[in-house]
Amino acid sequence: MAPARLNGGMSVTPAPQPRLVLQPAATGQRRSALMVGESAQVLKRFHFLERELVRMAAGWLPGTTDWETKLLLPEVLWQDALVARSLRERVLELRYPERRIAIDQDAALVGLYANCLHAPSDLAFVMGLARAVKPHLRGLLADYLKLADALDDAPSVHLLEHALVDLDRQLARLEAVTTEFATRRPELVASAERWNAGVTAALAGATAERVFAATLPEFAAFDPSAAGGRTFAISRTGQRDARFTRVRFAWPDRHTPQPPGAGVQLQVRQAIHHLNEVWAAEMAGACLYDLLEQAPHDFLEDAARWCFDEIRHCRMGYERLKQWGFSEAEMPLDAFSYDSGQHADAIVRLGVIFYFETTYIHTKPERAKIFGAEGDRLSSHDMDFDWADELIHSHYGKKWLTHFLAQAGIQRTPIEIKQQAEAGVLTFQQSATTEDKAATQAIFDRMMSKARQRLESAA
Ligand SMILES: [Fe+2]
Ligand SMILES: [Fe+2]
Repeated sequence: MAPARLNGGMSVTPAPQPRLVLQPAATGQRRSALMVGESAQVLKRFHFLERELVRMAAGWLPGTTDWETKLLLPEVLWQDALVARSLRERVLELRYPERRIAIDQDAALVGLYANCLHAPSDLAFVMGLARAVKPHLRGLLADYLKLADALDDAPSVHLLEHALVDLDRQLARLEAVTTEFATRRPELVASAERWNAGVTAALAGATAERVFAATLPEFAAFDPSAAGGRTFAISRTGQRDARFTRVRFAWPDRHTPQPPGAGVQLQVRQAIHHLNEVWAAEMAGACLYDLLEQAPHDFLEDAARWCFDEIRHCRMGYERLKQWGFSEAEMPLDAFSYDSGQHADAIVRLGVIFYFETTYIHTKPERAKIFGAEGDRLSSHDMDFDWADELIHSHYGKKWLTHFLAQAGIQRTPIEIKQQAEAGVLTFQQSATTEDKAATQAIFDRMMSKARQRLESAA
């Protein structure tokens, strides 16, 4: 230290001497491992990784054939979207009053996850999620929790501890789905395992130490094609599991408007329609995938919730049909509502789902009452909760159509887009051939015969 010295006759204040301060050694050092800026930086990277997981699962949904995988992906992506939202809010708290959150130089890290889109099959995609990507993310979150201070950074700790609970459940369910899928489709296993090994190797370089660094290091490039991957393109037709009866129109009223029927016919019809709402989950997923990059942050949350709700409606019908004794082979699946948007643009596809939401919403409370009055408590319960969801979805449709139309500078209203979407749906319905109608009628006759037999045997 330079000594105090005279300077032109004026005295100069000596530089401060280092002082002794209390240092509660081990605990204090562990608690203070990450300062606010460092925490915000890591949490921001987690946000973008979670967001990418949502986008990838949404993109794969229509092209996924495996039924159990198709039912699980929307739930997983919805949970990931909730975590992404919480992380975003936490980053903004830590950076207050700054409101900007952008991927910037973290794009290379997120790109490591985004490469997983290019899986060679739906089995490879879900296997990569179950055995490579999700375990990798789990490791990062757990390592952050080892460094985070449960006192000073308590909100982050709380949110990540809960994210880990979701993640552990997801891992167990994804593994179960992957194992069963691999057993059913052994011809896909070798390429899926090769893919999974490639993804695992690519992520091995993204250790917590490197991901938490102030400046991200270069990550080794991952070439999906070297692991047998294919450049991803979202499927514009809804893929269906071969264990079901696959038809162009699952019930007669789906190609020709007609009264819904009553009694047991209405019960079965409603279950078939619920089952076939798988298309709506696919359409919400496709809209999420197509429009996410140009959308404000709350689109992720809304579209993910929309996608999950629709697969819940599908599961409502699936569960009821199973309870009534129908096997998968007896259940008809179509895809015409999703497929009717295959040649449209993303805004019109959003219009297709908006058209169905707003056109049939009145049937939900009506049928909740009818089924309740006839003693079918479960169908009534499903319709009641379905209606609660659909009221939110109508809001989503109007809100996001209005937003994307304005963003694109298109001088049209959501209602006009809905009319265009309706015209596309009607054209598709009018394409029903005599053979299509006969196939649908055969399903109708078979299902109604079985349902009536079941009623008679129960009487
Ligand atoms: Fe629905
Ligand atoms: Fe809906």
